[in-house]
Amino acid sequence: MALRRIITEGNPTLKKVSRPVTSFDEKLGVLIDDMKQTLLDANGVGLAAPQVGILRRVVVVDNGEELLELVNPEILEQSGQQDGMEGCLSVPGKYGMVKRPNYVKLKAQDRGGRWHEYEGEELTARCFCHELEHLDGHLYTERAYQMLTEEEVEQMMQEDEEEA
Ligand code: NI
Repeated sequence: MALRRIITEGNPTLKKVSRPVTSFDEKLGVLIDDMKQTLLDANGVGLAAPQVGILRRVVVVDNGEELLELVNPEILEQSGQQDGMEGCLSVPGKYGMVKRPNYVKLKAQDRGGRWHEYEGEELTARCFCHELEHLDGHLYTERAYQMLTEEEVEQMMQEDEEEA
């Protein structure tokens, strides 16, 4: 396994549409393992292949219990609404307020090509939506109704602590 370099906003690759995975070969397994290691190293919640410069429909998501590997993911159902802060490893030092569904069900293949269904609520549902948008060349900054600086985020967290 190896760490991959995460590309950042301004790199044209992030705006391109990723192609479906058609070969479930060793190379795909290496990509997924590298993405998992890169996500853990970066302390992130999710990572999409285009963020490491690979235009293939592959995403890894930490749902709090395990690292999900999602190949060719497609949303099947979504419901509810949540409104909260979001960040992206490709947009370092920035955060934005984004409305997302509170529940998302999707299907995706594993590295062997088998289909599975996954459900997520709250942060995981937010992450599913965020990562799948990367596969279509979109960043959350296009959706955010308000962007926040790191100082504003710190202030918000401090206020939350004082209230608690
Ligand atoms: Ni992102």
